[in-house]
Amino acid sequence: MNIDGMPTRTVRAHPAQNCIDIIDQTRLPHALHWVRVATLEEAAYAIRTMQVRGAPLIGATAAYGLAIALEFEATDARLDEALACLGETRPTAVNLHWALARMAQVLRPLPPSERFAAAWREAEAIAEEDVAQNAAIGRHGLALWKDLIVADGQTLNVMTHCNAGWLATVDWGTALSPIYAAHDAGVPIHVWVSETRPRNQGLLTAWELEQHGVPHTLIADNAAGLLMRQGKVDAVIVGADRIAANGDVANKVGTYLKALACADNGIPFYVAAPRSTLDFACPDGADIPIEERDGDEFRLVHGLDQHAQPGALRQLPAGMDVANPAFDVTPGWLVKAIITERGVCPASRDGLLALYPEEAHG
Ligand code: MRU
Repeated sequence: MNIDGMPTRTVRAHPAQNCIDIIDQTRLPHALHWVRVATLEEAAYAIRTMQVRGAPLIGATAAYGLAIALEFEATDARLDEALACLGETRPTAVNLHWALARMAQVLRPLPPSERFAAAWREAEAIAEEDVAQNAAIGRHGLALWKDLIVADGQTLNVMTHCNAGWLATVDWGTALSPIYAAHDAGVPIHVWVSETRPRNQGLLTAWELEQHGVPHTLIADNAAGLLMRQGKVDAVIVGADRIAANGDVANKVGTYLKALACADNGIPFYVAAPRSTLDFACPDGADIPIEERDGDEFRLVHGLDQHAQPGALRQLPAGMDVANPAFDVTPGWLVKAIITERGVCPASRDGLLALYPEEAHG
C-alpha cells in the first residue's frame, strides 16, 4: 500500500533494538504519527487503546510485544506473564489469541536462552504471512469483482464498513485488498465508506483509500440502506474479527445491519479474512465474546478544533447511561461467500472445511 507514493507497511520492526514502530491510529486521519513500542506494557497499551487495531494487526503487534518482553528474562514465569498481559487487551479478535498461542507453542519447548531470538523470528514470520495471505485474498476477491462487472468501463460500486484495510493489517488489508487489487489492475472501482460510529474507523478507510488513489465517498452509517435501495451498491465487503466454525461472522458493530439490507436488496455480502481469523474451536456466533468498550467513546467526539488542534467535544453528559458493544455477529446465511488466502467458500461449516480440511478432526 502506498503512503505519499511510497510502499509502506503498518509495522516497522527493529530486532537489533528490540522494538517496533507503529502508526498511532488514534491520531489519524488528522496526523500520521509513528510511535515506538519498546516494552511489553507499551505493546499492551497500544492494542488496548487502539493505537493499533484491526484483527490481523492486533495479532502481529501482540507477537512482537511478546518477543520484546523476553529480552532480559525468558523464563516460563515471564512467558506466562507476557502472554496473560497481551491476551487480556481485547477479547473479540481471535487473531490476538491465535498469534499468542502460536508463539507459545514455538517458545515453550525451547530453553529460556533460545526463546528471545526464536520469538523475534516467529513474530517476523507472522507479519510476513499476514502480508502474503492478504495479497492472496486480494487476488481471489478480484476474481469475484470480475464476475460482477457487467459492462466494459462501468464503475463497480463497493461498500465497506469499519476499516479492514492496510491499517488493520501489516499490509494490503483484508476487505480492502480485493479493492486495491482491482484498482491496481485498472478496474474502475468506487468505494462507499461507512463512517462506523462511534469510533469512526471509516475515516481511516477513507484516508488510506485516498493515499492509494482509490475513488471513494464517505457516508453516515444510516445512509447505507438508502444507497442500496437506489441501486448504487453492487457489493458489500467487510473484514472479520472472528469467524465461527459454522460460518457466523463477528465484525465491527453495524456489520449485521448491512448484511440485512443486502439480503433485502439482492446485493452480495462478502467477508474477507485470513486463516488467523477463523476459530474452528468456536461452534457458532453465539459463543463469540463481544467487547463492551468505554462509554466515553460514545459520549465524546474527537477531532480538530478551529485552530486545527486535536481535541474532544462532549456530546453526551458524563453520567448518561450508554451501551457501547464494539462488535456484532452476522449469521453465515446472510454471507454470500468468505474470501480467504486459500480461495472463496460458502459461509458454512462444510464450506470452511472444504478450504481447511486439516481442521475436520475437531
Ligand atoms: O475495533 P477495531 O477497529 O479493531 O475493529 C476492526 C474491525 O472490526 C475490522 O473489520 C476487523 O478487525 C477486520 S480487520 C482486517
